[in-house]
Amino acid sequence: MFINGETAVYGIFGYPVKHSKSPTFQTESFHHLGINAVYVPFEVKPENLQEAIKSMKILNIKGINVTIPHKEEIIKYLDEVSQEAKIIGAVNTVKNIDGYLIGYNTDAYGFIEGLKEIIEIEGKTALVIGAGGASRSVIYGLLQQNIVKIYLANRTPQRAIEIINDFCKYYRVIDQIVSVISLDQIDEVLENVNIVVNTTSVGLKDDDKPLFDYDRLQEKHTVVDIIYRETKLLKKAKEKGCNHQDGYPMLIYQGAKSFEIWTGQKAPVEVMKRALGI
Ligand SMILES: NC(=O)c1ccc[n+]([C@@H]2O[C@H](COP(=O)([O-])OP(=O)(O)OC[C@H]3O[C@@H](n4cnc5c(N)ncnc54)[C@H](OP(=O)(O)O)[C@@H]3O)[C@@H](O)[C@H]2O)c1
Repeated sequence: MFINGETAVYGIFGYPVKHSKSPTFQTESFHHLGINAVYVPFEVKPENLQEAIKSMKILNIKGINVTIPHKEEIIKYLDEVSQEAKIIGAVNTVKNIDGYLIGYNTDAYGFIEGLKEIIEIEGKTALVIGAGGASRSVIYGLLQQNIVKIYLANRTPQRAIEIINDFCKYYRVIDQIVSVISLDQIDEVLENVNIVVNTTSVGLKDDDKPLFDYDRLQEKHTVVDIIYRETKLLKKAKEKGCNHQDGYPMLIYQGAKSFEIWTGQKAPVEVMKRALGI
């Protein structure tokens, strides 16, 4: 890698951020396309977010990704926010144009591009488990693809209801498409869904209690767990012969879209995948 006085700086703001794989595949992509740029991790504590955003302008940091816990909070510090980031209520990508900061959300795109690798989405029915930040992007993405029905299950049903209330300003018929259910009701709807998505953090640890009885999965289900590992849910899906996917395709495609927003160039997706060994 060649660094000189003209090297552009990109990065990721998060807390913690050490686990992030974005610096690896983004820097590799710049290098592959001969773009004089680096992408580095910035550990930004919540109380320092506003100052860190200001520093983007001062230091001329060209673009950043944003991860936990800043995706919602950052919105108020930006000059402009894309329509989809507004609907989702979260920004994961910022572009700095001569000191003017524009926020985008590429998580929904990332999820959908990954899912399209294993199933055609239009006309399908999905069970989405979880109602946190990631769930909002997944639901937005599925709605954009004309999904016919989403069962939204969350430990705290009120958070799922909040998603419907927030989205109904933009999707008038959302309450006809999205139905909130409890985790206990998953068994009742499983028979009727094509796609099962885990957007909770359950599965990060091996001893996490399953979200439902995974033995009830059938070969007809397409199962996505957006966690970056082979969770118990995915192991069972594999065992049952289901189409299945972990969180890496979503990570790669959200990063690819960010790359394109920053550089105006097509992202080298295969290079990104190779950089992560997938
Ligand atoms: N692949 C990717 O590109 C990508 C992108 C974003 C996030 N992710 C992953 O997605 C996961 C969620 O991220 P997030 O930002 O949405 O987090 P978040 O906003 O904190 O939401 C966490 C979700 O997990 C649920 N949950 C946590 N512990 C639970 C338990 N013991 N039992 C049942 N439900 C539980 C929460 O339910 P309550 O509402 O009841 O608390 C909530 O729905 C993380 O593992 C993250 O790494 C992956």
